[in-house]
Amino acid sequence: MNKYVLVTGGAGYIGSHTVVALHQKGYIPVIVDDLRNANPIVLEGMEHILGVRPILYKVDVCQKEALRQIFEQYSFDGVIHFAAYKAVGESVEKPLSYYENNLVGLLNILSLIDSFEVPNFVFSSSCTVYGEPKEIKEVTEQTPLQLPHSPYGFTKWMGEQIISDFHKSKGKYKLMNLRYFNPVGAHPSARIGEFPIGRPSNLLPFVTQTAIGKQEKLTIFGNDYPTKDGSCIRDYIHVTDLAEAHVAALTYLSNQAKGLLEAVNIGTGKGTSVLEIVKAFERITNISLPIEFGSRRLGDVVEIYANVQKGQDLLGWQARLSIDEAIEDAWAWEKYLATK
Ligand code: UD1
Repeated sequence: MNKYVLVTGGAGYIGSHTVVALHQKGYIPVIVDDLRNANPIVLEGMEHILGVRPILYKVDVCQKEALRQIFEQYSFDGVIHFAAYKAVGESVEKPLSYYENNLVGLLNILSLIDSFEVPNFVFSSSCTVYGEPKEIKEVTEQTPLQLPHSPYGFTKWMGEQIISDFHKSKGKYKLMNLRYFNPVGAHPSARIGEFPIGRPSNLLPFVTQTAIGKQEKLTIFGNDYPTKDGSCIRDYIHVTDLAEAHVAALTYLSNQAKGLLEAVNIGTGKGTSVLEIVKAFERITNISLPIEFGSRRLGDVVEIYANVQKGQDLLGWQARLSIDEAIEDAWAWEKYLATK
C-alpha cells in the first residue's frame, strides 16, 4: 500500500496522535502545519514513537498556492483537515482571525481536493454543533444542530454547511465530519500530548498544570448546574481512541464505491462531571489539587455526551480506553514536559 494522506495540523494535539495511528496502519501521512501552535517536542516525539521523522511541510493552510504545490507532488488518497484555531474564549476576542483561519483553510482544502480529485476527506468537527441539548443529553447524529455560542463554534457549524454544499454540487467525493466530544490524555509513551500555548482553557491540561505547579489553582466554573454534583458534564475521550477513529473513517471511506457525506460522533457514550475528573485525578496521582469554585463560564453547555452507535455500526470503531487511562497518560506527559 502506498497511501499518502494529507494531514493538515498534523503537528498539533489530535493531529500528531492521528499521524502516529496512520503510520502504524501503513498509511504515509504528509503533514502540513505552519507550527504556529505546535512544539518541537511533539515533532521529536512522533519521530521517537515511529522511528522515522514524518514528512512535514511548514505551510499555512490559508496559503493556497503553497498548498497546491504539495498536492502536485503527491497523489493523495485522502485528506484529514485538523488545522484550525480551537479556543472558545479567544474566538470571542478575535472572531475575524477565527473565521479567516478556520474557513479559508477549509475552502482552500476543498477546492484543491476538487482540482486534484482526492477521493476521501475527513473534517474535524465538534459536538459544539449540537449547542445545548434540550431534554436528552445523549446526542445522536440526527439530533438537530443548533446555532453555536461562539465564533469558534460557528466555524465548525459553517464548516459542516460548506461541506454539505460541496457534497451537493460534487457528489463523487467521500466526505466525513467527525464530531469530537472532549479529547483528553496523551500517547501512552508520554512523548506526544497536548501542548497549550499560554494559559490552558481546557480542563485536563489545567488540572495537570495545577498539579505540577505551573498554575496556582484550578477554578471549577460553576457548581450550581442541574447535574448530579452541580458541575458540567462532558464526554471525555482518550486522544489515541480519537486518533484511531480517523483511521477507521478513512478506511471506511476508501471502501465505499460512491460519493457520500456522513457525520459521526466520536465520544465514549459516557458523561463525566468536572468534579468527577478532579476526584479521579486526585485518586490516581495521590495529589490534592488546590481548587476553588468560580462562577459559570459564559457559553458553557450544561451537559452533553455522545450516542456512539453510528461509529460502531458504520466504522466498526469504539473507544477502548477509560478516563483513568487518559488521566494517567495526561499526567505522564505533563511530567515528561517538566523534564524538558
Ligand atoms: C470546548 C468546546 C468544544 C471544543 C473544545 C476545544 C463548546 C461548548 N465546547 O469544549 O466544542 O471542541 O472546547 O477546545 O463550545 N472547566 C473548568 N475549569 C477550567 C477549565 C474548564 O471548570 O479551568 C470546565 C468547563 O466549564 C467545562 C469542562 O470543564 O464544563 C470542560 O471544559 P473544556 O475542556 O474547556 O471543554 P469544552 O468547553 O467542553
